[in-house]
Amino acid sequence: AVEFSLRPSKLADYIGQPQVQEQMEVFIPAARARHEALDHVLIFGPPGLGKTTLSHIIANELEVNLRQTSGPVLERPGDLAALLTNLEPRDVLFIDEIHRLSPVVEEVLYPAMEDRQIDIMIGEGPAARSIKLDLVPFTLVGATTRAGLLTSPLRDRFGIVQRLEFYAVDHLVLIVERTARILGMTMEKEGALEIARRSRGTPRIANRLLRRVRDYAEIKVDGRVTRQVAQKALDLLDVDSHGFDTMDRKLLLAMIEKFDGGPVGVDSLAAAIGEERGTIEDVIEPFLLQQGFIMRTPRGRTATRHAYLHFGLKPAAEVIAQE
Ligand code: ADE
Repeated sequence: AVEFSLRPSKLADYIGQPQVQEQMEVFIPAARARHEALDHVLIFGPPGLGKTTLSHIIANELEVNLRQTSGPVLERPGDLAALLTNLEPRDVLFIDEIHRLSPVVEEVLYPAMEDRQIDIMIGEGPAARSIKLDLVPFTLVGATTRAGLLTSPLRDRFGIVQRLEFYAVDHLVLIVERTARILGMTMEKEGALEIARRSRGTPRIANRLLRRVRDYAEIKVDGRVTRQVAQKALDLLDVDSHGFDTMDRKLLLAMIEKFDGGPVGVDSLAAAIGEERGTIEDVIEPFLLQQGFIMRTPRGRTATRHAYLHFGLKPAAEVIAQE
């Protein structure tokens, strides 16, 4: 039960993402006061920033049911039709990884979102019939890592679009302190700061590192998380001072050592480090870009001066010239 309550259920308890909060604090009460379904919401951003958490909060604040599914799970039009026809008025339907819907399933969504109608086929062959069903008012909340992955007809049908950003360290400190409180831990401010700094701007990572630091503090010391305890635990986990993990370092080092700092295309990088292109684009690269360790140019990715200096290397002359 503790695990579940780690997720905040009220907008007021949602930390960070000030632009999202400010907007949703207007849109949700407005829909509620009119007794209408909230407009469809698209949430995009890298993994672990709280897309699912936000969908829980939306449903909770609207005091309606939340139905959850994901793009790959909805294999046939009938799977989606079954969900849509079982909603109660103003319910929230959350579709994670909505960019992975198959085209035939996506076709069902268009009239559902726009006209609250679905066309379903009954039977097969010459006796097959298409019937139109009216749906109750509902809110579709779709989540995806990058807005660019969606087809434009789908993207255009969302009335509210929220982009989640990496969290600032001071917001992550608040999240770590909140989770530590819920877990009943003794946490010094400096300990929370150390975890926050090394969490890649990502609450999911912060909460995961926090659990491992808790293990370390309980076994190696008296359970109290000081800065030194947090540092030692995080060093053990191979998370470096910038919060870069093994994959981040592998990517940066490949760019520097195998491609002379770039520019290099994402497919060449994927082959060089044995990772999928999608994982590089959605998971690894966004944080490195945001932190200024890599840049995107029309000819590919380049490693910046910061990347070289992070490994104690001297930037190549071209790298300095480019900046
Ligand atoms: N846990 C995960 N994300 C959170 C957030 N944005 N605010 C509060 N707690 C969280």
